[in-house]
Formats: sequence, C-alpha cells, structure tokens
Amino acid sequence: MKGLILSGGKGTRLRPFTYTGAKQLVPVANKPVLFYAIEDLVEAGIRDIGIVIGDTGDQIRAAVGDGSRLNAQVTYIPQEAPLGLAHGVKIARGFIGAESFVLFLGDNFIRDGIVSEVRHFAERALNCQIMLHRVEHPENLGVAVLDGDRVVRLVEKPREFISNLALVGIYMFDPHIFEAIEQIKPSPRGELEITDAIQQLLDMGYRVGHQIVKGHWIDTGKVSDMLDANRLVLETIETLIEGAVDGGSKVIGGAIIEAGAQVIDSVIRGPVIIGANTRIERAFVGPFTAIGHDCLITHAEIENSIVMENSQIKNVRDRISDSLIGRFVEVSQSPPVPKTLRLMLGDHSQVGVL
Ligand code: DAU
Repeated sequence: MKGLILSGGKGTRLRPFTYTGAKQLVPVANKPVLFYAIEDLVEAGIRDIGIVIGDTGDQIRAAVGDGSRLNAQVTYIPQEAPLGLAHGVKIARGFIGAESFVLFLGDNFIRDGIVSEVRHFAERALNCQIMLHRVEHPENLGVAVLDGDRVVRLVEKPREFISNLALVGIYMFDPHIFEAIEQIKPSPRGELEITDAIQQLLDMGYRVGHQIVKGHWIDTGKVSDMLDANRLVLETIETLIEGAVDGGSKVIGGAIIEAGAQVIDSVIRGPVIIGANTRIERAFVGPFTAIGHDCLITHAEIENSIVMENSQIKNVRDRISDSLIGRFVEVSQSPPVPKTLRLMLGDHSQVGVL
C-alpha cells in the first residue's frame, strides 16, 4: 500500500501565515503538522509516500527532504494549480500504479493515528473506505449520509443540513478511484472534488465502507484549530530537560526544554515545549504553549499559544494568550497598557504594543 499526501492548495483561512509559508508547515508542538501525517502513515506500515505540492513546494521539499528522517521514502508530485483534491489524486496515478493507497490531506491532524483503519480496509476487500467524524458545523466540510451501516450519499459543503457526519481528510482507495475521477466534472468552486469521485464510485456499484472516528480529529485550517492540535499533542508529552534551567526558575508539570535553551528567573507551567537555543528570561510560559527554536521571551507572559522560530517577545505587561505568532516576529511594549492581547501575526511581522 502507498500513501499520498496533498500539500498544495492556498490556505486562505490561515493568512497572513500562508502569504509566506505553507499551511502544512505550521508547527504543532514544534513539529510541522504535515510531519504528523507522514508519521501516521509510517506507523500504519506505509513508507512509500507521494506528496503533491503547489506554490509552496520548495518549502515542503526543504522541510521533508527525501523522508528518510521520518523513516519514509518520499516522491514529490507537483500540481500546476490547486484544481481540487481529486485532481491531486489524478496526477499521482503514475506514482500509485496498481496499488491501493491512503490519501491524507496534509493539513489534517488525527490524534490516534490510522493503524486500525488501514487494517480494517485491508481485511474487508473494499474499493474505498472513508472516515467519518460527528461535527456540529458540517457546512464547511464534506458529509456522508448513511442508511443503517451503508454509505449512500456524499455531498461536499452541503448548503442545507443532510448529515452531521463529516468526511475526515483521510481516505483509502484501490485504483478504481482513477476511473471514477475520469467521470466527474469540476464543482461550483471550480475544483475536482474527491467527495464527488467517491459518490461516483458508489454510483458505479463499487464497495465504499466507512469507519467512525471517535477520537480527536482536526482540520487545521484556522488559528483556533492549530491551538487545539497543539494542546492535544502537548497533553501527551513527558518531561525532558536538555537545556539549562537556573536556580531562580521553576518548571511545573510536563515540559520539554531542548538543548541550548536557557530558562532564567522564569516560571514554566507545563505542558510546554521550548525549542533549541531559545532564551526565556524573567518570563512566564504557561500551559499549552510551544515556543520554537532561537526565540527570546523576556519580561513577558504567554499561555495557550504557538510561537514559531526566531521570534522575540520583550517587555509586554499583559499576558499573551490564544495566539499564533509567526517566524521572525518581534512583539515589544510601548505605553499605555491594554487589557489583553490576542495576536495573529505572520512571518516577519514587527509589532509595537500599546
Ligand atoms: O479536512 C476535511 C475536508 O477536506 C473534507 O471534509 C472535505 O470533504 C474535503 O473537500 C476537504 O475540504 P477543504 O475545503 O478543507 O480542503 P482544502 O482546500 O483545505 O484542501 C485540503 C488539503 O489539500 C490542503 O492541505 C491543501 C491540499 N490541496 C488542496 C487542493 C484544492 C492540494 O494539494 N491541491 C488542491 O488542488
């Protein structure tokens, strides 16, 4: 079985980050969200992985390389434009050949991995297996309608409510999906939809099974989703302190403090991860916060946030909370004092706080 990860697309909901970077490379607990997809595939025994890339392909290539670091063997498949998920599959036909494969959307995060789903698919001789998750707002996703245990209908971003069972962005196919893709037309948003291709499989009489995902699944399209995923991963970390924590500092709860990091006169209240060579001085880093490598946090307080590498937060009196801060960002204090700060700052931003 092979793996196919879609990492092209536009990422409009994560602007401004996606003006300069691939949304699949936004870090969750200091690791790009895309790496979790690769690890999930490898854990399920799938090491031969194709990655469909678009405009941000160079960044994806630089981050993932040949995949060997993640125990995978990666082949890149450039997509000329984001013409839809089914288009991404169509152009990967040469890579997939006659094998079955897992299609994994590069911005999807699933806490419990896909080992049991892959096994289920292999055991049942299905042509396709979808994964479903009950959601409150299905209108922005694809949904499936079941009749008893049978999948009978799939609709992409339904205007009217037909089901609260959303399609998780992880699918299993045999090569019949290529036949189905040949039959479908672009949707009103101008894309070849994988949801329509699966409906086409049903219409052609192929066997489409499903699994309901009970654990956490996150489509990391928005800032709040990134913070949720960050929280889920940090909840599971075990303390590992490789950096230096001075006598004036306190580390409470689970914390990873990477090599070369320094914690001086500060409180770290886990779960927290602090990247290599980052300096935390006279600061509070609160629960569910990931600070990337080579950052500086001084005379500041931050919780429930992601700070990407090479950024600085200096002399900020109010606690920063629920924030996603890009790379090479500088946040510093200037008077007078506001009550709280909610920040969404792209790479290379510079902010003088009032
Ligand atoms: O996350 C689950 C949802 O993903 C499903 O419920 C929907 O049925 C499915 O259509 C998809 O919806 P989105 O609108 O969220 O898909 P998005 O455009 O965000 O693309 C998902 C990933 O695929 C993302 O990493 C970008 C990549 N992509 C997207 C397109 C349209 C490509 O690589 N090429 C493309 O042409």
